[in-house]
Amino acid sequence: MSIKEKDSLYIANTYARFPIELKSGKGSLVTDTDGKEYIDMATGIAVNTFGFCDSEWANAVTEQLNSLQHTSNLYYSEPCVKLAEMLCVRTGMKKVFFSNSGAEANECAIKVARKYAAEKKGADYNKIITLKNSFHGRTITTLAATGQDVFHKDFLPLTDGFVYCEANNCEELEKLVSDNKVAAIMFECVQGEGGVMPLSQEFVSEIFSLADKYDIITIADEVQIGNGRSGKLYGYMNFGVKPDIFSTAKGLAGGLPLGATVFGEKVENVLKAGDHGSTFGGNPVASAGAVNILSRIDDKLLDGVCKKSEYIINKLKNAKGVKSVSGMGLMLGIETEKDAGEVIAECRENGVLVIKAKNKVRLLPALNIPFELLEKAVNVIIDACK
Ligand SMILES: Cc1ncc(COP(=O)(O)O)c(C=O)c1O
Repeated sequence: MSIKEKDSLYIANTYARFPIELKSGKGSLVTDTDGKEYIDMATGIAVNTFGFCDSEWANAVTEQLNSLQHTSNLYYSEPCVKLAEMLCVRTGMKKVFFSNSGAEANECAIKVARKYAAEKKGADYNKIITLKNSFHGRTITTLAATGQDVFHKDFLPLTDGFVYCEANNCEELEKLVSDNKVAAIMFECVQGEGGVMPLSQEFVSEIFSLADKYDIITIADEVQIGNGRSGKLYGYMNFGVKPDIFSTAKGLAGGLPLGATVFGEKVENVLKAGDHGSTFGGNPVASAGAVNILSRIDDKLLDGVCKKSEYIINKLKNAKGVKSVSGMGLMLGIETEKDAGEVIAECRENGVLVIKAKNKVRLLPALNIPFELLEKAVNVIIDACK
């Protein structure tokens, strides 16, 4: 039996896989089992921050792997402390809780916001406002946070207490805040799975001014846009705001599972011993990978992200068959005249891996993709859009 046949037999039917099996990769190039090479413009959905098997990252990870692979959170351990310090120093936040995925990072954020509100304002202040078209994860609570019915319908009842606001609708937000006993407002500053849609500056400012007025916790979900992808270290930094909590995962450890919920002053001491936990959270190998990644997301790299973004947008926005380009930094969505699936298949046939977000072709290249490869990939995408 082929891997494809065994996959269908033994793996739960949750994924619509592309018809290729990837075997090995280096940087932004990856080869399938037929020996065909591709330029990767998807990074395992915004995970491989510095591409496949980046040598510096791989050395940091293997060095840790050969000293201690796991200790549990019963003991002190240097890699996760180093990472937490880096996250706090670079963002001005105060404390970190580590988990293993974006969904878990968001679950923790929601728990902390609810605990803060219950202690400060009363247990009935438990509503979380999230945005329509958002995506926050697949657990029962983060599905409830996800403002898209299509993900809810087969799994009801979900966790209670979520209300949804149309993105960029300041009036609706104001009404929801005054009509509900609200603990938190949670948002992605660029909705990724929702079609690579950035929030407006006006709306983000409104979230923060209402939060200030009503003592509501702000939660920025940075799982997809974070860790340098927006052109700044975290996406919210493009809007001149600072959330009470942000969640990050995906690109944080450059290809290893790691989630982090990062707390500002207001909520830094909400969690007490025994309130939350995770067996693998802050795992030394994943943390060593993340320390390496974070230490390399510097001004020079971020400047490169902005320049590459500008290049892609300028080349694509007037290309034949392209209706619009949305997004920020190296998280971009192309609205095409042709069906996005067709464009993606044509790109793949011509050696470029891109993925979908709603009806768009989504680009999430490595932050250090060499310019020559980016140029080649963009030309293939332009041809496929025609
Ligand atoms: C913004 C956002 N939040 C949360 C998640 C969930 O992350 P994970 O799949 O690691 O649980 C995703 C995944 O796509 C995401 O894009």
